[in-house]
Amino acid sequence: MKKGIVAWESPSNIALIKYWGKMGRQYPCNPSVSMTLKNAVSRTQLSFSERKEKWINFEFEGKENLDFAKRIETLFEGLNEELLLLSQYSYSITSENTFPHSTGIASSASAMSALALCICSMEELITGKKLERDEFLQKASFLARLGSGSASRSIYESYATWGKSSAFSKASDDYATPFSKYIHPIFKDYQDYILLVSSKKKKVSSTAGHGLMKNHPFAQARYDQANSNFERMLGILRSGDLDDFIEVIENEALSLHGLMMNSTPSFTLMKPNTLEAIELIREFRNETKIPVGFTLDAGPNIHLMFPKKDSVKVDAFVNKQLKELLEDGRYLKDETGFGPKQI
Ligand code: PMV
Repeated sequence: MKKGIVAWESPSNIALIKYWGKMGRQYPCNPSVSMTLKNAVSRTQLSFSERKEKWINFEFEGKENLDFAKRIETLFEGLNEELLLLSQYSYSITSENTFPHSTGIASSASAMSALALCICSMEELITGKKLERDEFLQKASFLARLGSGSASRSIYESYATWGKSSAFSKASDDYATPFSKYIHPIFKDYQDYILLVSSKKKKVSSTAGHGLMKNHPFAQARYDQANSNFERMLGILRSGDLDDFIEVIENEALSLHGLMMNSTPSFTLMKPNTLEAIELIREFRNETKIPVGFTLDAGPNIHLMFPKKDSVKVDAFVNKQLKELLEDGRYLKDETGFGPKQI
């Protein structure tokens, strides 16, 4: 086959146990687990044709993006061992997100997972060999990992782990492993409201961020903590213990930021309003006993997580007490999602 088109829609995810620190060929220094989102997705189309000199074109939301094109080129060149056919074609890739930029939603996770799925579909079209669904997804997760570590987890619906652990024999460093079949019903439609404290571009790229863990004075302590929180979180996802859930996600979020503050160079990615919102969330929880907790990505925005049945009360709380701390009062509502779709 000389040319063709494939397209996938793939979601972002929010890490409950954070991956922070990598080694070798994008292997994680500790296991992580995430919730796949429903509304925050990337839609990516890949057209392939005979190889030309300029072999990768990438357009994001209608505009050529040379930085991302370069990243894809490096990824494709690095994949030569696994996918010899990649270097034989030229690519025109277009992608768009359903969510606004720099909102604390990991766009590399959705974009890289969508691209990885497109590559796997393209390979099937070219070779005429169709993989079993599980094999197909595992391969996509492996390729997504090489593009962006956290993207490996976006391949699976609801919850997924990535990184070896003695607590979960199916877990691997090479690709993510689905965890949806083990979860307590409360987590099937868990809510994640993304509170937009600031939409300014991140001060530290995630590659530079992972690099801060090399020679970090607390690196080993962090990996021990992450391993133990990982094991605890798998138990929580099975049992539905929300007090423990909140304790662990908040501990992970603040550890991530603590590590960044302690790194050389050091970064403070939270804003004063992030801290104020955290105080208000904890007060609201103590007063109402509604099990609402927060997590953070490598940025100032807050992911507010809680069971669906508490949505009306949490909505009222956000509108009454938190909205004034948010940029233009903005927040995005998301929840546990069903994973990628071919489009
Ligand atoms: O996948 P990367 O390289 O963008 O790193 C993601 C790092 C965190 O978002 C902070 C944590 C995680 O596990 O998603």
